[in-house]
Amino acid sequence: ELGPYNHFMQKEIHEQPKALADTIEQVLEEGFSPALFGDADGELLRQVEGVQILACGTSFYAGSVAKYWIESIAKLPCTVEIASEYRYREAVANPKYLIVTISQSGETLDTMEALKYAQSLGHDLSLSICNVRESAIPRASRLVFYTRAGAEIGVASTKAFTTQLVALFTLAATLAKLGGKLNSDSEAHHLDALRQLPGSVQHALNLEPQIKPWADRFSPKHHALYLGRGVHYPIAMEGALKLKEITYIHAEAYAAGELKHGPLALVDEAMPVVVIAPNDSLLEKVKSNMQEVRARGGELFVFADLDSHFGESDGVHVIRTPRHVGVLSPILHAIPVQLLAYHTALAKGTDVDKPRNLAKSVTVE
Ligand code: M6R
Repeated sequence: ELGPYNHFMQKEIHEQPKALADTIEQVLEEGFSPALFGDADGELLRQVEGVQILACGTSFYAGSVAKYWIESIAKLPCTVEIASEYRYREAVANPKYLIVTISQSGETLDTMEALKYAQSLGHDLSLSICNVRESAIPRASRLVFYTRAGAEIGVASTKAFTTQLVALFTLAATLAKLGGKLNSDSEAHHLDALRQLPGSVQHALNLEPQIKPWADRFSPKHHALYLGRGVHYPIAMEGALKLKEITYIHAEAYAAGELKHGPLALVDEAMPVVVIAPNDSLLEKVKSNMQEVRARGGELFVFADLDSHFGESDGVHVIRTPRHVGVLSPILHAIPVQLLAYHTALAKGTDVDKPRNLAKSVTVE
């Protein structure tokens, strides 16, 4: 079952080009069509005035990326909430909002209960993004998009996450199109970005030999910080979660601009700081955050883009991700943080596929 791989997580990381291509296939065939979600003529999705995303764990981080896409591409307000929080608070419902649940397994109890609670508040319009056909959450939802990642066995979610991001990007573009916010040039550009994605992800996987020596430096550490900004901030959170889950190293993610509001106090020579630093409009801001870290002796491990103009220096290690289409950059930057966690776990000798205290599907509270 494992083929040439040692762990399911490793296999699933390397399956991502195919999982993504399989998920994208239907989008390339139909374009950004509401039919992809089961809304044949767009009657339901056209009514949407905003989006409320509900999910747990890695699926919540996928939703956190989607917020940026839905607001910037579809121009619709979007909020993202942890399902276990939403289900127990007195939320103010707006029935014109689309409830989007994201769940790999489709069986996560908190997400299911959050959906039921939203429905009890009058939310008729629900959409499930799920990897397991006919599981509980899609069955309870009006609309559904199935990611085609194939079975995910490793407890740490990898290919489910990146395919969820494709589904959510497709949702953002579809809502934009229905709302008259997507011209045909932009549509063609976004479809082209999707078409190129599996190849770019394969290039990102080829960074593995560069990441292994970083993992050796991480394995003796007790703490790590992950920084990102904007749409890449949730990728920092996902990277920190992966490291925590399978290496038991305490890792925290911060929006880089928050550093000086508290966490900078943690930084010293013993603190490795991973930075997601793509070449986007926030790069200069991220660079000044990096200087704040360096000035306190923190060691920087930077994932930059190929065309960024900053190099290695004392205490600053840089790995460059390959050329890619900008709007899907968070998907590409998810790959190296998965690999860093995986190889750090190998260096530590922890149980990669079955980390202590965790279950693949959380069907209890
Ligand atoms: O099946 P789900 O997507 O609903 O699961 C949600 C979380 O339990 C899951 O993503 C968890 O955080 C993973 N272990 C992360 O790697």
